[in-house]
Amino acid sequence: MTRKLKVGLIGVGRQGHNHYENLLTMPDVDLQYICDLKVDDEWKKEYANVPHVVKDYHEVLDDPEIEAVLIVTSTDTHAGIVLDAAKAHKHIFCEKPFSLTTPESEVREILKIVDANHLKLQMGFNRRMDPQFRDIYERVRKGVIGSPQIVKTTSRDPFVLDKELIKRVGTLPFDFTIHDLDMVRYMMGSNITEIYAKGGTLIDPTLKEIDDVDTIALVLEFENGSFGLIDNSRQAVYGYDERVEVFGSEGMLKAENVSNSTVELYTDKQEEKKNPLPIFMSRYHEAYLNEIHSFVGAVIEDKPVVANGVDAIMAQRAAIAVDQSIKLGKPIKVDPTFEL
Ligand SMILES: NC(=O)c1ccc[n+]([C@@H]2O[C@H](COP(=O)([O-])OP(=O)(O)OC[C@H]3O[C@@H](n4cnc5c(N)ncnc54)[C@H](O)[C@@H]3O)[C@@H](O)[C@H]2O)c1
Repeated sequence: MTRKLKVGLIGVGRQGHNHYENLLTMPDVDLQYICDLKVDDEWKKEYANVPHVVKDYHEVLDDPEIEAVLIVTSTDTHAGIVLDAAKAHKHIFCEKPFSLTTPESEVREILKIVDANHLKLQMGFNRRMDPQFRDIYERVRKGVIGSPQIVKTTSRDPFVLDKELIKRVGTLPFDFTIHDLDMVRYMMGSNITEIYAKGGTLIDPTLKEIDDVDTIALVLEFENGSFGLIDNSRQAVYGYDERVEVFGSEGMLKAENVSNSTVELYTDKQEEKKNPLPIFMSRYHEAYLNEIHSFVGAVIEDKPVVANGVDAIMAQRAAIAVDQSIKLGKPIKVDPTFEL
């Protein structure tokens, strides 16, 4: 019989609820806690199927039965909760990004505690576990397209997020571009050394009030001399537009959008293709399941996680460089080296 991992879910907003629904379907997970600052009697009714529904995450960490926690709170709380969870000897799945403002030196200290306590820390870079992108990743590793030279990703959200939500999850480089920055580094198997980004408010000029942009185009260079291109938008009117391409000396691998139908219509008057799936929950449904499944497997079988603390730091460095490059209007060097 499969061993079940006893877990607590901390932070049950938009993304936490997405994980909650997935956790309920997973035979290797025993969800013991729902924890959110907003917990009240209504929440206790809604989550009556979960043994404990609490407001204070320390209650989850104090329970010796709990082996692992999923941290899906507002981004600026991640570092503090990861630190407390590591001190409480819990394995950790933490949503991306690791932090918005915590200095890298502090993040390193937290990672040292995670390591010293022999814990797993997996970051929520879910795109690594998307079946289409994983297929590309594995074929690149096998040398199917020879030596990879250029990687391109497009990520466009279907609508502009509410400003209050942006304040909780981070501006475009830290909340959104960070997925692409992780993906291009993962695909190329090389660290980023320089980024030149342009960003603007082509959709919603009021985003300037919170120091954000809605459109980013960037070029970057990797340590091995190859290049990357990323384009991001906060509003693609036709759906959630997610594509990846890797070009190499012997060919190209490319993943197009996923839609809910493969039917195409061609007549003498029109051609009809299906729009991409509407939003991240549906587009990355399998990736979200796979990443938690792989986290649980890493804990139970003591295997490496798919995206770790070093990946968190590398993505954070790159996101800071994107932000600086947009603001200063020049290319920014990124340190490709890492030692804990
Ligand atoms: N990997 C992905 O595809 C993906 C997608 C969406 C969001 N995210 C990430 O997930 C995180 C949450 O984003 P969201 O959109 O769900 O935000 P949200 O604001 O909808 O939800 C955050 C929840 O955390 C709770 N919370 C905040 N501080 C807390 C604390 N100290 N203790 C307990 N609960 C606390 C809030 O009450 C809220 O319900 C962010 O870091 C975001 O970047 C990742």
